[in-house]
Amino acid sequence: MLNIRYEKTATPKELPAKNDPLKFGTIFTDHMFVMDYETVKGWHDARIIPYQPISLDPSAMVFHYGQEMFEGLKAYKTEDGRVLLFRPNKNIERANNTNRRICIPEIPEEDFLQAIKEVVKTDEAWIPTKPGTSLYIRPFIIATDPFLGVRPSDTYKFIIILSPVGAYYPEGLDPVKIWIEDEYVRAVKGGIGEAKTGANYVASLKSQVKAHEEGYSQVLWLDGVNRKYIEEVGAMNIFFKIDGKIVTPVLNGSILPGVTRDSVICLCKEWGLPVEERKIDIAEIKKAYEDGTLEEVFGSGTAAVISPVGQLRWEDTIMQVRDGGIGEYSQKLYDTITGIQLGKEKDILGWTVEV
Ligand code: COI
Repeated sequence: MLNIRYEKTATPKELPAKNDPLKFGTIFTDHMFVMDYETVKGWHDARIIPYQPISLDPSAMVFHYGQEMFEGLKAYKTEDGRVLLFRPNKNIERANNTNRRICIPEIPEEDFLQAIKEVVKTDEAWIPTKPGTSLYIRPFIIATDPFLGVRPSDTYKFIIILSPVGAYYPEGLDPVKIWIEDEYVRAVKGGIGEAKTGANYVASLKSQVKAHEEGYSQVLWLDGVNRKYIEEVGAMNIFFKIDGKIVTPVLNGSILPGVTRDSVICLCKEWGLPVEERKIDIAEIKKAYEDGTLEEVFGSGTAAVISPVGQLRWEDTIMQVRDGGIGEYSQKLYDTITGIQLGKEKDILGWTVEV
């Protein structure tokens, strides 16, 4: 159990207006959680302090070799005033998997959860209640040794910041257009693709810029070896409904194991839909499109929740999915997941945790 020191802000910021669309990741609350690590002391000095810039030595290792990790989860306010987290233990488990992969010391699960709960409680007034909004929680760890040699750092900072958010994509729940990348790759098996670390996201930027220039929202990655098996979108995992079956790439070491991905699989199984987690050749998607059996495509992610895909572009083929409309299961999954998150739907799978 952490002994958290509190320093409340003397100058609280103005809360966003109730009808503010809350552009994703642009507004931050009054406080943040910080905890330090040193080899001898371990994780120590847990504190909740006013949201503020951090001061680091320019030689801090995170700036040079990217030893950093992050997570993303959300808090919601129910109609009867409770504050709910959605499957926080899955994020914490994944955070420690990332930590092990990139040589960052693990954080005990109960301390991690306590830190999230306490900082959310401190800034509870910032949880937005307009439909489609939530409080995005961004825990991250950075390597802080002032040193230019390549090795794991001996010191770290663990920080949690909070941001009231609306939809991740400007499209909201309207279908997005996705560019299937055939030039660059995001990750390969044995690399760090399944870790939630900034390096995977920087690897995606060049393709993302190219896709944006062509009018596409996101990039769908193919595997780095055969350049034909579907992996993920970067900010989301990907699902297809083909001839009545829900199909998604099997976790293979280079795909991020999404918490919403797991939730989609669990719900579809609950509803009796056949779900296949397996290798998916992009040629199979093209064929399903040509046959008329490609019934739906959607992405899943914490930030995006469920994002219907209206168009896929692969090489010279433009695949228009469902005439660009929202699919039945995309809508049903979005409604059910957000319903559980907001305490409106029965939480039959025990996913929510009250703060
Ligand atoms: C999330 O869905 O929480 C993510 O981390 C994706 C993105 C915002 C980087």
